[in-house]
Amino acid sequence: MSERTYPVSPEWAKRAYVDDAKYKDMYARSVKDPDGFWGEEGKRLDWIKPYTKVKNTNFGPPDVSIKWFEDGTLNVSANCVDRHLAKRGDQTAIIWEGDDPTKSKLITYRQLHEQVCRFANVLKAHGVKKGDRVTIYLPMIPEAAYAMLACTRIGAVHSIVFGGFSPDSLAGRLEDAKSSVLITSDEGVRAGRPVPLKANADAAAEKAPVKTMIVVQHTGGKVTMKAGRDVWYHEEAAKVPADCTPEEMSAEDPLFILYTSGSTGKPKGVLHTTGGYLVHASMTHQYVFDYHDGDIYWCTADVGWVTGHSYIVYGPLANGATTLMFEGVPNYPDESRCWQVIDKHKVNIFYTAPTAIRALMQKGDGPVKKTSRASLRLLGSVGEPINPEAWEWYHRVVGDDRCPIVDTWWQTETGGILITPLPGATVLKPGSATRPFFGVQPQIVDADGKVQEGATEGNLCIVDSWPGQMRTVFGDHERFIQTYFSTYPGKYFTGDGCRRDADGYYWITGRVDDVINVSGHRMGTAEVESALVAHDEVSEAAVVGYPHDIKGQGIYAYVTLMAGVAPSEDLRKELVQWVRKEIGPIASPDVIQFAPGLPKTRSGKIMRRILRKIAENELGSLGDTSTLADPAVVDDLVANRGK
Ligand code: WTA
Repeated sequence: MSERTYPVSPEWAKRAYVDDAKYKDMYARSVKDPDGFWGEEGKRLDWIKPYTKVKNTNFGPPDVSIKWFEDGTLNVSANCVDRHLAKRGDQTAIIWEGDDPTKSKLITYRQLHEQVCRFANVLKAHGVKKGDRVTIYLPMIPEAAYAMLACTRIGAVHSIVFGGFSPDSLAGRLEDAKSSVLITSDEGVRAGRPVPLKANADAAAEKAPVKTMIVVQHTGGKVTMKAGRDVWYHEEAAKVPADCTPEEMSAEDPLFILYTSGSTGKPKGVLHTTGGYLVHASMTHQYVFDYHDGDIYWCTADVGWVTGHSYIVYGPLANGATTLMFEGVPNYPDESRCWQVIDKHKVNIFYTAPTAIRALMQKGDGPVKKTSRASLRLLGSVGEPINPEAWEWYHRVVGDDRCPIVDTWWQTETGGILITPLPGATVLKPGSATRPFFGVQPQIVDADGKVQEGATEGNLCIVDSWPGQMRTVFGDHERFIQTYFSTYPGKYFTGDGCRRDADGYYWITGRVDDVINVSGHRMGTAEVESALVAHDEVSEAAVVGYPHDIKGQGIYAYVTLMAGVAPSEDLRKELVQWVRKEIGPIASPDVIQFAPGLPKTRSGKIMRRILRKIAENELGSLGDTSTLADPAVVDDLVANRGK
């Protein structure tokens, strides 16, 4: 752990919304009087019918029910677009930067309004109604934001599936959401290479109940359109009016579903609702990034992940911000790309993931230093723990020692940031997400649920609700309660391990369950295992994470083959391809070790602890193996590590 601290600079103390004293006051009030605190904070949105109730939440046991602002009504697209028209109709809402550095465009709030209305009318014309689920499988193009906001305008619930997921993964999510409308594009482009989104969508639609496919023309690549099912978005948009009245939604009406991986089973449909989510996204975007009018803000996430939802689209647009949407990747055409984009668009606030920082750091300071970055004021990190070395490099080289770093901890389930520095208030420690945001009450417990006080380490829980919290697992409230509120009854369990130091700072140490975080992408080891065992020649598989210099964690798979099948390099390659096809390229195993047997207890349970230690190359600390059904299995695994 790094000992160095970074105090708030005098300029920051002066410009920021919140200094340390104000943070402490506001925080104290937020937990003592949540109704008063959030009752005022909720007014940052335009309500059609103002709420009279603020917080109505219960973490059980046995029932869990979470409601915020429940009797208020509003519309999200009206809050993100319409209400800004009078003051900032001609201000840029979205800066789009293409994969190809010669391509970019600016979309004003007025243009955004027209685009969102048209998209909403196209959805309506195809029979989409309030409450219907619409699946979005798009690259990082402005139409992704138009489509999201169009859904919110008519009260449809969007479910975005990241473009890196396979047809099978897409089909599973379409089916689970019972979504009959799919929005995609001909192709995406990444690092100059086309991504066949329409072809993937076609394959998914074979296995899922898709009745209408709306196809955005992006690259002009050749696709096949199925008569009676597929329509071109630009043709449909030309037929409908450029205005659409926003639907009045209750604060607790569903806003979106986003599938995320857990420790068991298939990905869960995390459900977020309208009012509380938007209050939280807007407030955190304003305070954590200290967003002021006129700032240019860039979050490098993809809208297929929650970070893209809350911090490319909803938070920034609710605040009338200028948000940059980037189609490409950090190292194309070369390693300077991010910094060139910052100079090109005069970006002030830059928010990215540690995996990108580590990958760029490996290329040295040169690609950074040949750019100016004079516009930069604040840097952010999200998605996985940031190691102090990467933090220091980000601060010193990218930020020229001038820009604070906000290391923001949160999850798909939390809707928005929960533990984070505030740039005008918090003394920074590299590698620590520091202190809780307003209203957030973290608690560290041991394995038995005993609350740990003071400087300590254990499992991270949150003991009371915040407005952006997920409300349920779509279609399976019991799974919601089981997953998050049963390990430590009455508390939300995050699945993360955490240390708290003597200053009360939080240091997230990573997942303590069977979820791994690969390049900031969340993956269930069980998903990779079930993909592997679906292959004819595989009899059993066990997957664990291991430390990876760039990705944070890599995927290590132990595979037992069917009797009579011989291990080979070809089969290893085939299995990697197989997992890519089943789940998507983000799930490619880094290591496949052929294992004649897996370490099991006498009752048949796989001892993952041992597999993790072998993958991490911590062979000296395998622990007690005497309870295994066949302890000799371990010797073989160690002898053939990585093979
Ligand atoms: C991890 C992404 C350390 C954590 C917003 C969490 C982090 C999981 C941080 C959620 C951070 C996210 N420091 N770890 N600043 N931010 N994580 O749902 O393990 O894709 O549980 O949401 O990412 O991943 P998800």
